[in-house]
Amino acid sequence: GRFLSLFAMLALLLMGCGDPTLSALIPQGEVADKQFQLMLISISIMILVLVVVFVLYAFVLLKFRKKKGDNSTPKQVEGNHMLELLWTVIPILLLIILAVPTVMRTFEFSADAKPASKNELSIKVTGHQYWWEFEYPKEELITSQELVLPADTKVHVELSSADVIHSFWIPSLAGKTDTNPGDKNKNYMWFDTGSKTDVVYKGKCAELCGASHALMDFKVRVVSKEDYKNWVAGYKAADDKSSANADGQQVFEKNCLSCHAVGQNGGNTGPSLTGFGDKDRVAGILEHDKENLKKWIKDPQEVKPGNNMPKVNLSDEEIDAVSDYLLGLKLK
Ligand code: CUA
Repeated sequence: GRFLSLFAMLALLLMGCGDPTLSALIPQGEVADKQFQLMLISISIMILVLVVVFVLYAFVLLKFRKKKGDNSTPKQVEGNHMLELLWTVIPILLLIILAVPTVMRTFEFSADAKPASKNELSIKVTGHQYWWEFEYPKEELITSQELVLPADTKVHVELSSADVIHSFWIPSLAGKTDTNPGDKNKNYMWFDTGSKTDVVYKGKCAELCGASHALMDFKVRVVSKEDYKNWVAGYKAADDKSSANADGQQVFEKNCLSCHAVGQNGGNTGPSLTGFGDKDRVAGILEHDKENLKKWIKDPQEVKPGNNMPKVNLSDEEIDAVSDYLLGLKLK
């Protein structure tokens, strides 16, 4: 009890230096809470071992140090069954204390990974070099880079990859789970969105997947259940009409629509751009403004090396128009 509260305080201190929306030490929801408890147990055991070893070390150094005028050979000791038994049994006990809750939680989390009924919220996550695709099968919609979820909800996640192995990680909500290529290698996990609403948690790719691995970020926006329903309705009703003039839409339809969906139209090899004007990042990483969007369209490789977006041959006027068009796409 004392140890746990001490380390809870230590964690509180560490929280001060971290980003509260990107920290496993500031858990939100049931899964992250329980994983945090496991961390506290292992840190407690480590500190306990450290303290005991250091105290013994200091004790031996002081007690058996060379004393003035004493040149005799110390008593030679070979083996001590009692001590050997102790330093074998104690580590075994410590490992059992660590293993039992860890294995129990592992089974607990994997048992619930697949949804038990069709009423539960389930999401299909697909990792791409270097962006995230989120499909809501029941709601029949696909988003990219941003996962919008209702608070206090258990979310079941099916994970796969379109290319190489990535790892889906929302530090505030749950531990990492790999996304593997191929239908036979799907992973499943679940997490609880926690009770806070109107909060954005940061997500990361946690498996080295290529040149822009470090730029493969996403967001998880947790809203009230009512706002979630409204968001789903708004997203499904969104079309390809933009508040900008029609020139940009023509450029988009000619050059971009085969890969990027807007509303009900378009391909899905690239991220969906539905409601792009409401997003808060360009390509998942840059500040959401027109300059950055133009920079991205002009040379995607410079922003995210190794990504699969081709450099489209557009004039400056066309890039300007298509940027206006995209920034004018809003959800209903
Ligand atoms: Cu995807 Cu690292």
